[in-house]
Amino acid sequence: MIKARLITLVAGVFFLTTVWCPAAEKVGNNGKTLFENNCGECHNLDRPKSKKKTKDEWETTVLRMKQNGAAITDDEAKIIINYLSEIYK
Ligand code: HEC
Repeated sequence: MIKARLITLVAGVFFLTTVWCPAAEKVGNNGKTLFENNCGECHNLDRPKSKKKTKDEWETTVLRMKQNGAAITDDEAKIIINYLSEIYK
């Protein structure tokens, strides 16, 4: 019995540290993922993808999207702005 519980516990910890944590970190830092997860809800992703903007313009746009109702934090907005201004310029 105890051995079975121990195995479950070890497997659980292993699962959490190897599968769950790195995934959460990746989503938190990856501009592309943040963009794709948050910017296609109200309009197609092609709407931003078809634009070319300077970093300032992307900042204005993304902050306006936040006001429109995009559920992103200030930090996530910064990551998305950096990502967009690198690629769609
Ligand atoms: C809550 C709904 C919503 C979400 C989420 C959203 N948008 Fe928008 N977006 C709008 C609306 C409404 C418009 C048209 C009105 C306007 O431009 O503010 C728009 C228009 C746009 C435009 C065209 C206008 C322009 O200034 O070029 C771009 C580009 C854009 N969105 C990018 C984004 C990006 C990038 C994200 C993710 C950070 C995002 N949107 C998330 C609602 C949303």
